Amino acid sequence: MSFRLQPAAPARPNRCQLFGPGSRPALFAKMAASAADVINLDLEDSVAPGDKPQARANIIAAIGGIDWGSKHLSVRINGLDTPFWYRDVVDLVEQAGERLDQIMIPKVGCAADLYAVDALVSAIEAAVGRQKRIAFEVIIETAAGITHVEEIAAASPRLQAMSLGAADFAASMGMQTTGIGGTQEDYYMIREGQKYWPDPWHWAQVAIVAACRSHGVLPVDGPFGDFSDDEGFIAQAKRSATLGMVGKWAIHPRQVALANAVFTPSEARVAEAREILAAMDKAKAEGAGAAVYKGRLVDIASIRQAEGIVRQAEMIAG
Ligand code: COA
Ligand code: MG
Repeated sequence: MSFRLQPAAPARPNRCQLFGPGSRPALFAKMAASAADVINLDLEDSVAPGDKPQARANIIAAIGGIDWGSKHLSVRINGLDTPFWYRDVVDLVEQAGERLDQIMIPKVGCAADLYAVDALVSAIEAAVGRQKRIAFEVIIETAAGITHVEEIAAASPRLQAMSLGAADFAASMGMQTTGIGGTQEDYYMIREGQKYWPDPWHWAQVAIVAACRSHGVLPVDGPFGDFSDDEGFIAQAKRSATLGMVGKWAIHPRQVALANAVFTPSEARVAEAREILAAMDKAKAEGAGAAVYKGRLVDIASIRQAEGIVRQAEMIAG
């Protein structure tokens, strides 16, 4: 119970976040031309240590030099446990200009990680006279991150989105897998001799969704590594959408359309939501709080569920 209203997450589409290494500038124009809502230019784990300075320069040149349209433009900096991150922040905020929307902070472990980056970003923004405040997104991908997920979600007014990073998460948790997301062969149950594969990412995803929804942050599913497995990607994305996540990363351009399809509420789902709202309007006019829709109960909670779907569809349609 709480008398406080749940804060709304930022009202912008975040169905797909397309990643590309900062060390491959030939990909940038292709990323800009893609159908992804969010672009993540990477300075972290897809860039070799010796390439970090050149990747920074590539990204800074591309932020002002390429037409990114209405995409939300984010750069993933290096983790706070590296010697690279402060230079990433200083160079980006000093030199990248107003088009940079967001900084992604990987391997966040506690609220103070955001405080540290916020302090540095705030000082540079003031020094260079930036007009637009840079937003943050974080990746939950360590045991510490998932343990402190709620304080992280509450840590900074800059925070807009939070992703689950399956690969680093698995490594940090000591999970016996090298897979990046999706079904894990050895995570199965047996019933009447039949194997059945539950979802090993479920708990972390729900923890992230709950923390995000409590604090007005967008919950996002991270990478699915096997980019030749469309069916596996779609299954993972549908589970995430069902649990309340708003989008998923693409680590290859072929995953963009798949994510957009899953995270755009379907016409059938929106039509059903509108019918439920109409049924509840009728019930209300008759003085009832509950009604029957297609043989099942709908009540005032159904209005909130249906409104959420309609709102999401309208926001995406722009
Ligand atoms: N964004 C936009 N376009 C991309 C792309 C990306 N991330 N990755 C590949 N492409 C383009 C290629 O340039 C190629 O274009 P073309 O048809 O004009 O020649 C086309 O898509 C097909 O690419 P393909 O040959 O299948 O891939 P690749 O071998 O060049 O690269 C990866 C594969 C996985 C190395 C690459 O997609 C990549 O670096 N992904 C992002 C990795 C990353 O950022 N990781 C960090 C987050 S986990
Ligand atoms: Mg990672």
